[in-house]
Amino acid sequence: MTAVRTPVAIVGAGPAGLLLSHLLASSGIASLVVDARSRAEIETTIRAGILEQGTVDLLVETGASTRVLTDGRRHDGIELRFDGEGHRIDFPALTGRSVWLYPQHEVLADLIATRLADGQDLRFGTRIETVDTTDPARPRLTGTDAEGRPVEIEADMVVGADGSRSVVRAALGGSAAGSFREYPFAWFGILCEAPPSADELIYSHAPEGFALISQRSATVQRMYFQCDPGADPDALSEREIWDRLQARVPGTVLKEGPIFQRDVLRFRSFVAGELRRGRVALIGDAAHTVPPTGAKGMNLAVADVVLLHRALEALLHRRDERPLDAFGETALRRIWKAQHFSWWMTSMLHSTPEATAFDRERQRAELRSIVESEAGRAYLAEAYTGWPFETRVG
Ligand code: PHB
Repeated sequence: MTAVRTPVAIVGAGPAGLLLSHLLASSGIASLVVDARSRAEIETTIRAGILEQGTVDLLVETGASTRVLTDGRRHDGIELRFDGEGHRIDFPALTGRSVWLYPQHEVLADLIATRLADGQDLRFGTRIETVDTTDPARPRLTGTDAEGRPVEIEADMVVGADGSRSVVRAALGGSAAGSFREYPFAWFGILCEAPPSADELIYSHAPEGFALISQRSATVQRMYFQCDPGADPDALSEREIWDRLQARVPGTVLKEGPIFQRDVLRFRSFVAGELRRGRVALIGDAAHTVPPTGAKGMNLAVADVVLLHRALEALLHRRDERPLDAFGETALRRIWKAQHFSWWMTSMLHSTPEATAFDRERQRAELRSIVESEAGRAYLAEAYTGWPFETRVG
């Protein structure tokens, strides 16, 4: 049995857990980060690609990643397309901000390298099985390390940054205690070897369903089209995939190339019942899940981290519990705004099987209301580029 004690035990080496350990270290607070996955698995899993301006500023200012500025690409707008016509949402003109296309696995590679160079205790292959809060001031984690040996971790604070299937969440009432909704569709996603088909991302609403033409680099592209949640990613030929994508983006000729990865992403909106109880807190996907349409997932995790970092500084440096007491309520304000935005983008752009003629006309009018109004475009742009971070807690 290996027993360790640490001020902050962070379960999950995703963006939330790693960034928290980075900010804590800059405040002189040691932490231990564990993840059940291997480093290679974390660094190669394909995830979302859009970073808000505030996320990029934070990564750069704190030294977590400088590659985002050299290898990432600034995007000054997106296109909403419907009725065969494109409408640009100009982010800097509407908000003075932009977003950056820099894939999440690159952020993770940067964070892991930065943390290891800084001497962070970061343990891959370590699976947490139980969270024991019998002594409320000293939560304890038990599990197994990469060699299969039992581990026990005692901490002043346990943070669940362990994703949508969080083990730590069980200590806060589990997922049944949260609010959630499911959607009657999913995204069929591909990665292909091809040049970009357009300069900016295209969010397209078509009678056949929604499509998103995203990007990864000059030679690799990410695209999605709406599909049934039960769809089998291997059931379609490459030709059928291109035909479905192309039918949903009339007006743009997609640049095709070999498809080397395909997946079906199911949609879920979820907010945990409690984000913090005693000395256990949840951040990132462990605390909330949003559908990918608003590109909010990773950015929301970063906003949680900014708040929890402040709360833990107050707790561990000054024995001031108030910011931690206020953490849940403060974080939930942004989380619910992002939930609303992600739900809104999703419902405005997708086609539902049970939609009536009334529903379809109303939806097209909603799209027109947004693109034909500066206030409408500004609302979308403000939410997409990200609201300012709340740094006051309590
Ligand atoms: C992606 O590139 O994976 C991506 C971009 C924008 C979204 C969702 C996913 O809204």
